[in-house]
Amino acid sequence: MKITIVGAGNVGGACASFITAKDIVNKILLLDLSKEKAMGKALDIWNASQLLKNNTKVIGLGKNEYIKTKNSKICIITSGLIRTTGMTRDQLINKNAVIIKEVTNNLLKYSKNALFIIVSNPLDLMTYVAFKELNISRFKIFGMSGLLDTARYNSYIATSLKCNPKDVQSLLMGEHGDTMIPLLRYTTVSGIPIGELLSKRKLKVIINKTKQTGGEILNMLKTSAWYAPGAAIANIVESIIKNSKTIMTCSCYLTGEYGLNNVFLGVPVVLGKHGIEKIIELQLNKEELNKLKTSSLKIKQMMEQLS
Ligand code: 2OP
Repeated sequence: MKITIVGAGNVGGACASFITAKDIVNKILLLDLSKEKAMGKALDIWNASQLLKNNTKVIGLGKNEYIKTKNSKICIITSGLIRTTGMTRDQLINKNAVIIKEVTNNLLKYSKNALFIIVSNPLDLMTYVAFKELNISRFKIFGMSGLLDTARYNSYIATSLKCNPKDVQSLLMGEHGDTMIPLLRYTTVSGIPIGELLSKRKLKVIINKTKQTGGEILNMLKTSAWYAPGAAIANIVESIIKNSKTIMTCSCYLTGEYGLNNVFLGVPVVLGKHGIEKIIELQLNKEELNKLKTSSLKIKQMMEQLS
């Protein structure tokens, strides 16, 4: 089983490391414009293999070595420019679209049957760009977004309740951005509806903090987050490799679900060895559906900016 990660930056490196720690694949190819960087991170991660109790070999590749990614089962694209302080994800659109097109074509040349996970921002739009380039089944390409936002939201609920994040269950939908929609009706702690545990005011604070976390970390670190994004990708890979049919939010191409078409948006899916096994259509109420449509509209407006 072979997995390719394109981009050996913070997210790509963290993702490779978290995947090895799960000991679920025997080879990860970490490809970057800088072969040195990819090889250095690959070596450092391999050095940790005995400590993390795995036997996953990470191999660093340079930009001219896509042929070595041949027959990858999963291709993860983390490459692209990242925001600088004060930038919005949307400002990366056309520069990252060029990078995504080049990377997807290079990968597809050697791995026609791979599943593609897009991480680059603006996430929903870059997943759309990759989908158009790859021209593959919409169930074999998706963006890592909702899982990260859900994890952040759950961590803040755990902080408020001083409980274990593992006991928090929730679903977020929509854009990986300001119009994301945490669904309070689907948020529970050990089965207890969140409305019985936290006030509306407190939940509003948590929702806003979830939306702002990406920018907050950017301001503190002067670069984007990588631990939680890397862990989210590793969980997605684990669900595919183990065919665990996990339900999680991924950015998928909609063709009528929720009354939406021709747009990538975070929706709950069943994830297994074939990628998206099923898109789950929740019985959203009017308010939730309107928020989802607003989110979709924002993505479609961004699609118009693609030159
Ligand atoms: C985030 O929300 C980088 O978009 C990513 O941190």
